[in-house]
Amino acid sequence: MSFELDPSFIVDMENRPNVNVAAIGREEVPVIDLSGDIERIVEEVGNACKECGFLQVINHGVPLHLLEAMKETSKEFFDQPMDEKKKAKRDEVNPVGYHDGEHTKNVRDWKEVYDFLIDDSTLIPASPDPDCQELRTITNPWPKNPSQFRVVCQEYAGEMEKLAFKLMEIICLSLGLPGGRLKGYFEEQTSFLRINHYPPCLFSDLTLGCGRHKDFDFLTVLAQDDVGGLEVKRNGKWVHVKPDPTALIINVGDICQVWSNERYKSVEHRAVVNGEKERYSFALFLVPSHHVMVKPLEELVSEEDPPKYLPYNWGKFYATRNRSDYKKQNVDNIQI
Ligand code: SIN
Ligand code: FE2
Repeated sequence: MSFELDPSFIVDMENRPNVNVAAIGREEVPVIDLSGDIERIVEEVGNACKECGFLQVINHGVPLHLLEAMKETSKEFFDQPMDEKKKAKRDEVNPVGYHDGEHTKNVRDWKEVYDFLIDDSTLIPASPDPDCQELRTITNPWPKNPSQFRVVCQEYAGEMEKLAFKLMEIICLSLGLPGGRLKGYFEEQTSFLRINHYPPCLFSDLTLGCGRHKDFDFLTVLAQDDVGGLEVKRNGKWVHVKPDPTALIINVGDICQVWSNERYKSVEHRAVVNGEKERYSFALFLVPSHHVMVKPLEELVSEEDPPKYLPYNWGKFYATRNRSDYKKQNVDNIQI
């Protein structure tokens, strides 16, 4: 093991862990019970989306034993030699699979990931080029080992997907829209699940497992293990989200920000690493079909509240991921 830190992992001074961090537990991310009265749930979810952009849900319906099984099979996968993991690696053609070179804002993240599509194979534009009409299919490169990896991942993803769509309905209701208003945009969804593995890091004060960023999706459902490391930006300070094995963490993404014409905003967050323990987290990114043009919903714009964003094609946006010849897009660039 080398005790030197590769400079590509070093975070700039003002974004290092422990700088600008609020006292842990002082400011909580709201916890919402998803069982019971729907009107209460809609109101609480709406308030949390408006005020925090993040919330935690309990009684969410995802069986806890599945979370345990995910942890177990993920550990078996990531414990394998690099050669074995790279047999299921992501490349320029297939932006899913194993990857250990993730960068956020040009700094390397202290983690390795395995991404898989919820629908196993999905259509995306062949190129991010605005004139290109061609589509191509992307498919999950499932590893052969561990043998139960695929089955466990798919069962878990199915449960997370159900929850994500339920939350989408609740969010629609909280915006005064019919619950099913957005469902049609997801018929050929490009949603995927990311398994994050953060190895222990001797330089946890200089590095981040995942640099500060906002999610580009409609919403994210995140499960973190008992090590903890997720931090959310609130009022200019980083707030630690205490691990709770019974809760799942939900956050608003950029697509929700645009569709809701900024009634709900996507919020910055990051993951810090631990000096002694490895950490796992599982994130489902709910994203629409490749052909969907994302723009503020017409019901939510008016003369007094004009659209704040230009329309953008989700598939082209997604296709810039992983392409070194295209700059990754960002909704900040399409603000009106
Ligand atoms: C992420 O935001 O992509 C990861 C967050 C986490 O692992 O807690
Ligand atoms: Fe994120």
